[in-house]
Amino acid sequence: MPPSDVRPEPVVPAHIAIIMDGNGRWAKQRGLPRIEGHRRGVETVRTTTFAARDLGVKMLTLYAFSVENWKRPQDEVGALMGLLEYYLKKELETFIRDRVRLRTIGRTDELPAGVQKVLRHTIEETKHFDDYTLVLALNYGARTEMVDAARAYAAAVAAGREKLNDSSWDTISRYLYTSGMPDPDLVIRTSGETRVSNFLLMQAAYAEFVFTPVHWPDFTKADLAAAIAEYNRRERRFGLTSEQLKPAPVQNVKK
Ligand code: IPE
Ligand code: IPE
Ligand code: MG
Repeated sequence: MPPSDVRPEPVVPAHIAIIMDGNGRWAKQRGLPRIEGHRRGVETVRTTTFAARDLGVKMLTLYAFSVENWKRPQDEVGALMGLLEYYLKKELETFIRDRVRLRTIGRTDELPAGVQKVLRHTIEETKHFDDYTLVLALNYGARTEMVDAARAYAAAVAAGREKLNDSSWDTISRYLYTSGMPDPDLVIRTSGETRVSNFLLMQAAYAEFVFTPVHWPDFTKADLAAAIAEYNRRERRFGLTSEQLKPAPVQNVKK
């Protein structure tokens, strides 16, 4: 057993989820239109996708568009959808080269047809990669997810495929968009805001949260590494006491 002053090896969270925020403010600070912030934000999506994988993360979920974001000015929504389509088309080659699997969560069937088409194609082309997954939360909202899950579960009960009295979290969670995905270990939000904005409310039940003042276009691999270092200073107790989590002391065995 190592002496108690030797810190254990850093643990890399298997699943990191990021609320990418601050594109608009980043642009405003520079006297640029908001859309320029989103354009730079796309570059950060690209760099962070590979930075996370380099650091040993297995799954990265990025909150890219919320169900509430449709209420933004129409020209901004249109520009975001255009950027999304452009990004996906441009990235496919890189995803295949670097073995990145793409998956989405959210009501993607309400996205523009062009975006849906490129999403379907990219998901299909990358579905056999199993070492690293990029999950895009698109037209995502945790409450909408719960509504969709409740509808699907109720339909399964009505059809006799589920028994109401047998249901547990394991059963219900299979109806969430995140079915089959591990829960996030670490949730990061950029731009200094300290709220969850309808993101992964159930799945982040025991996630660690790290908030950074950095606006998303300025977020770097070093910021990601700093968030992972902060995660390593936390003690995830899952309802237990600190003592319960410590390894049992070595017993003196009498010969
Ligand atoms: C995050 O940046 C991107 C999306 C929500 C699509 P914002 O556009 O929210 O930037 P701020 O919060 O206005 O600075
Ligand atoms: C959350 O950011 C949604 C995404 C990052 C896609 P918002 O900028 O929309 O959140 P609020 O409005 O500040 O809570
Ligand atoms: Mg914002």
